[in-house]
Amino acid sequence: MMGPQKKVAGNPDDVPILMPGGNYIKVGKDSAQSIYLIFSPHSEEVGILARYLKIFENHRVNLFHIESRASTRMPNKYEFVVECCPDGDIEAAISDIKDLSDYFNIITRNYKDNKESVPWFPNRIRDLDRFANQILSYGAELDCDHPGFTDPVYRARRKYFADIAYNYKHGQPLPHVDYTKEEIDTWGQVFRQLTKLYPTHACKEHNHVFPLLVQNCGYREDNIPQLEDISNFLKDCTGFTLRPVAGLLSSRDFLAGLAFRVFHSTQYIRHSSRPLYTPEPDVCHEVLGHVPLFADPSFAQFSQEIGLASLGAPDDYIEKLATCFWFTVEYGLCRENGQLKAFGAGLLSSYGELKYALEDKAEVRPFEPAKTALQKYPITEYQPVYYVAESFEDAKDKMIKYASTIPRGFGVRYSAYTQSIDVLDSKPQIEGLITNINQEMQILMDALKKL
Ligand SMILES: [Fe+2]
Repeated sequence: MMGPQKKVAGNPDDVPILMPGGNYIKVGKDSAQSIYLIFSPHSEEVGILARYLKIFENHRVNLFHIESRASTRMPNKYEFVVECCPDGDIEAAISDIKDLSDYFNIITRNYKDNKESVPWFPNRIRDLDRFANQILSYGAELDCDHPGFTDPVYRARRKYFADIAYNYKHGQPLPHVDYTKEEIDTWGQVFRQLTKLYPTHACKEHNHVFPLLVQNCGYREDNIPQLEDISNFLKDCTGFTLRPVAGLLSSRDFLAGLAFRVFHSTQYIRHSSRPLYTPEPDVCHEVLGHVPLFADPSFAQFSQEIGLASLGAPDDYIEKLATCFWFTVEYGLCRENGQLKAFGAGLLSSYGELKYALEDKAEVRPFEPAKTALQKYPITEYQPVYYVAESFEDAKDKMIKYASTIPRGFGVRYSAYTQSIDVLDSKPQIEGLITNINQEMQILMDALKKL
């Protein structure tokens, strides 16, 4: 569930974050305000730590935490990680530290205050737990024009779902929900309508996976599938998993989840008074629209590329990437044997718009990330224009090319073994990557010989 792009201060007290290299950093009391400095000294001289500490003291900068660790960037060297308060004369302190250091980097949530810093992003899959208390609005808070606004039973139910998500931690099974008869009836109406259109309107990937979800995850008219069953199914297919989400996430946080092949999913259902309308994502939208595509390897890779491109990107590029996400993962069309089909979840979960987009001569344009990224769009009406991807592979290649134009002082790579992000900004790391690629090439050559 993605929200408008807004920065919200979180305050995850005492949550340990693991940085690359396997060291824990204890987060200070007000981590929304704190700045991380990572630096590696020029020399291994005795007393270098004291010299650094003197700099902080001289410029009246308070430290929350300091640690040393082996550097992943400088062979046989070490680096310091300091969490400090952005008080005192932090600019002057940074300048003095740079004079003593071979490597220097800043990571902060309030990065706008410091032009050189990189916006904070999750490093390990477990860091996604920190998004729970940074949601823009809690799932139980409904707008006055929401169909469930005056229904106290529905509101209590929404709070129940929001609480489940708020307390969820990575690695736990996704809580099983006993849906009420009323909720199952609402689901049934949506399910019946949409499944009539899928054979003719949905892309072939969606139609390929859908029967597998019926077989394996209880997709039936009289049953709302459980997120846990779906997440396990997706994990087997592409490594994608689901996380419950308690409310609107910022675009930055939502997209970051995709970098880890994690999709933030709602679990509640729309109000029963208007079964074919919802002003926000609900379980019908997620499991009928999004889930089938995340089981497709090319689509999964495409989605992850958007996520990886977002890590540490400036705010204006987060908005552009969220727009690309909107016109592909949410409202994307593709061409099959000359015919337009839908793969966007917003279409595949809306009977009316799915018909409109494909039958009513809606305006379509080719998906070109640099151009698509600038398109304005309404959230609660049919889209004025749809973008057509030639294939998921083609869309992915275009996305990777577009991502390379984002101003960012480092490369990123996802390590599936450690479920963490490698931040690539030094020669030794690149050399390590080349060694990995050489090993992959060897596997390729061996396999080719045996064909
Ligand atoms: Fe969605």
